[in-house]
Parts: sequence; C-alpha cells; structure tokens
Amino acid sequence: MAINRRQFLVQNLMTLASLTAASQSARSSAVRESGLSDIFKHDFALGTALSNRTLEGHDSAMLDLVAREFKAITAENAMKWEELHPADRQWNWDSIDRFVEFGKANDMLMAGHTLIWHHQIPDSVFFDRKGRANKRAISKTRLLARMKNHISTVVDRYKGAITLWDVVNEAVNYDHWRQSHWHSIIGPEYLDHAFRFTEEADPKAQLIYNDFSMTAVAKQDFIIKKIQAIRKRGVKIDGIGLQCHVLLDSDAPSIKALETTIIKYAQAGLRVHITELDVDVLPFDNKGSGADLVINREYSPERDPYRDGLPLAISSELANRYAELFRLFVKHKEHIDRVSFWCTSDDESWKNDWPVKGRKNYPLLFDRDRQAKQAYYALRNIKLD
Ligand code: GLA
Repeated sequence: MAINRRQFLVQNLMTLASLTAASQSARSSAVRESGLSDIFKHDFALGTALSNRTLEGHDSAMLDLVAREFKAITAENAMKWEELHPADRQWNWDSIDRFVEFGKANDMLMAGHTLIWHHQIPDSVFFDRKGRANKRAISKTRLLARMKNHISTVVDRYKGAITLWDVVNEAVNYDHWRQSHWHSIIGPEYLDHAFRFTEEADPKAQLIYNDFSMTAVAKQDFIIKKIQAIRKRGVKIDGIGLQCHVLLDSDAPSIKALETTIIKYAQAGLRVHITELDVDVLPFDNKGSGADLVINREYSPERDPYRDGLPLAISSELANRYAELFRLFVKHKEHIDRVSFWCTSDDESWKNDWPVKGRKNYPLLFDRDRQAKQAYYALRNIKLD
C-alpha cells in the first residue's frame, strides 16, 4: 500500500521513538546490572554501611546509589545498643525497620551490627540505678538476663531477614581479653553466652566475631585459640569479621600480612567477612592502633593536608591500594563471603573525625558529590586484568 510523505515521516518517527525507548531501557538496565557488586557477584557479596542520616530518610539519593552498587548492607550505628535500646524498656526500631525494608526490596544480604560491644552502650546496662553515682555493678546473673533479653528481642524481630550477625565486637585487646564491663562482670565466658543466645534466637543465622587489627599475629593467635575453645564447648561461631580499616601506606597492613591472616582464619574453619573496609589517606602517627575509638589526637593543619581536595597523585595511590586489596580478596574468594565498605561517600566516613576530629578524609569509593572516584574504576578494572 502506497503511503504519503506525512505517513512516511510519522512512521519513521515512531520507529525512532520506540528504538530510542528500547535502547534507553536497555541502557538503564545495563547500568543497573553493572553496579560494582555485579562485577564481583561470582566472588563475594559486596556491601556497604548505611548511616543514620540515610536511614532516617534524609538521603534518598544515597539509597539509590547503594541499591545500584551494592548487594549487602550493615547499619553503621542504628543497631548499636545505645541507639536501638537506650533504656530498659525503650526500643527505637524505626531506623532498623527501614533498613530491613530497604534490604528486602533490593534483595540484599543484611548484616546485624552489633549485638555485644563495649562501646556505644549505656552505662545503665551495667550499673544499678541506685549505685550509678558510685558505679555499683549489677550481678552477673542480672547482666546475663539483660544480654539475653537484648539479643533475643533483636534477633527474633529480624529473623529470616537479617541472616548474619556480628554477635560480639572487639572483645580482644592485642593478646588478651579487653577489660570491658562485659568481661569484668560476667568473665570471658560472656562470649559463649552471647553466641548461644543468638543461635537460640535464630538457629539458621551466620554468627560472626568481629574485630580490628586482625593482622597482628599475637591477636590472631589469641582469637583463634579462644574461638576453638568456645566451639569445643558446643557453641556455634561461623565466621570472623576483619574490619579492615586500613591505611594508604601499603605496609599498614601489607598485602602479605592480610593474605596470611585470611588463610589462617580460613584454616581455623571460619568463613571470612571483610566487614568495615576503608582506606585512610591522611597522616596517621599510630599505625598499630586499628580502630580503637579511645584514641583522640589533637587537630593541626599538618595532620589535615588535603582540605582543598585530594591531589591526583594521592587519588591514584588510593586507587592502587584498593586494587591490590581487591586482587587479594578475589584470589581468596573461596574463603570470603562478603566484602563491605564502612559507608559509601567520603562525607559520610567516620574517618573525618578519627583519630583527629574535623579533618577532611577521602577513604571511600564515592566523593562528596557522590561521584565515583578513580578507586571505583580501578576496582571495576581489576576484573578485566
Ligand atoms: C568500629 C565499629 C564500628 C564503628 C567503627 C568506627 O570499627 O565496629 O561500628 O563504630 O568502629 O565508626
């Protein structure tokens, strides 16, 4: 059938429009499909931490970015005892409910962080109301009851959604138990109880012991010995969380040290999780200090050299450091379940305030405008090497 010029034009325009729409939707699904976590999907789950700001609903752009790039999430602070359970009968569920909703909607692996820790927990958990002035500790029996109530309430609420738990965080200081209130009131067996209560609340969940400075040999030896003893008593511990707050300095820790660490924990029968990865680019005068939050150094301009932006040379160094870390993680993917960053964009990072308050740090993959940095592209590229 003959068509006139107008019909011809209309038809072509329609074809063009449908082609454009098709290619746009192909492109946007390609973008969706090729977030960083897709690149590593045959290696491990790639994750990040969600800040309170994001969870309180003030940052939907961040949620979109996280949904596009990551497959696992941790709450940076919202699940810590002082935030979730600030007083005996007070529970603040809103942020974590939102965290779980977001995780479910995006089919993500969700990590619960953290059930038992010495930081970010109210003193009233350990001390009697009457005795608070002179700090009279409650009895071991009462503290165990509080621990059980906290763990079973939280784990039960999110059973089936949150499938792995940092049950105990940072119980070890170098080569001995940390002198926390948990330790002094209950004794070191507080770990047995914490893991047992968690397993009772959700027998299917993966249970993790999480800590920093995990490449220190004395610390490793102590932790492995203690975990093995705990397991011998019939308590389940499935995995080890290596926080991995590392420095730009390729020596802190070295790839070799990290490799030995991963292998050693794996040989001890533990699944490895990289739980809080970031790379500090600022001067750090206490390499061995890991992430001990009690350290607080004084601000000085020399300690804050990149106020006006990260020089290109440092940005490349950061990209190389991330690439060497991920090459190692991929090499040992059979031992590693998850690699998770400690937040997504530089403005969110705790590293702006620790160990010196008020500096400008650049430890993550996205900049303050939420743009992917050179380090991000370096990670995409290692899969093409
Ligand atoms: C430790 C904790 C995290 C976080 C960082 C610093 O690594 O495990 O929850 O508090 O310190 O923010």
